[in-house]
Amino acid sequence: MAAGDEDGLLSEDELVAMIFLLLIAGHETTVNLIGNCVLALLRHPDQLALLRRRPELRGAAVEEVLRYDGPVEMATWRFATESLDIGGTRVAAGDPVLVVLAAADRDPRRFVGPDRFDIARANNPHLAFGHGIHYCLGAQLARLEGQIALETLVRRSPSLALAVPPHRLRWRHSLTIRGLHELPVILTPPRRSG
Ligand code: HEM
Repeated sequence: MAAGDEDGLLSEDELVAMIFLLLIAGHETTVNLIGNCVLALLRHPDQLALLRRRPELRGAAVEEVLRYDGPVEMATWRFATESLDIGGTRVAAGDPVLVVLAAADRDPRRFVGPDRFDIARANNPHLAFGHGIHYCLGAQLARLEGQIALETLVRRSPSLALAVPPHRLRWRHSLTIRGLHELPVILTPPRRSG
């Protein structure tokens, strides 16, 4: 804000774009990555138990959440540069195209058992961060944040559990972000000996 208001270094448009980047691209995404991670693990206790036994799987676990229930369902808007036919649908030059990454990430032609949540999945070339020239700039940071949050939460909370019945959880209605309004959990600290 100071760079825009006081120093005149950023125009109004650049300032809005920077705030969007920090709050939406950089914050909302990872918040919901972590939320969707915790929910997927709580809904699949066998996978949570596996992660507790083998914490080195945290990287693969985050990749699997990105594929199975990533926080960004669609790529940024694209516009057709020429008329074309996609899967029988006519797209005219200039038309907007919304690519649903979440659908591609459940494609049975690409993933074995796409609806299965498997943190040890070996071949996981998901598209949760997009593809090509606009591939997510913050992908490595987001991965790191997800892994640190997950590892810390699982290590510090041996009795991590949902605090409400699953049917009480409400998903946000958003084209941009896939995530819950809130995820109430019970965090029981480990017992200290002595
Ligand atoms: C789990 C977290 C995140 C996910 C799933 C995610 C996903 C995406 C997706 C799908 C795109 C569009 C790719 C395309 O249209 O081809 C994108 C673009 C972008 N993301 Fe992320 N993102 C995440 C976190 C972040 C973070 C933490 C930052 C910054 C600190 C960030 C910065 C950006 C930027 C700047 C772009 C635009 C790149 C461009 O248009 O060239 N993202 N992200």
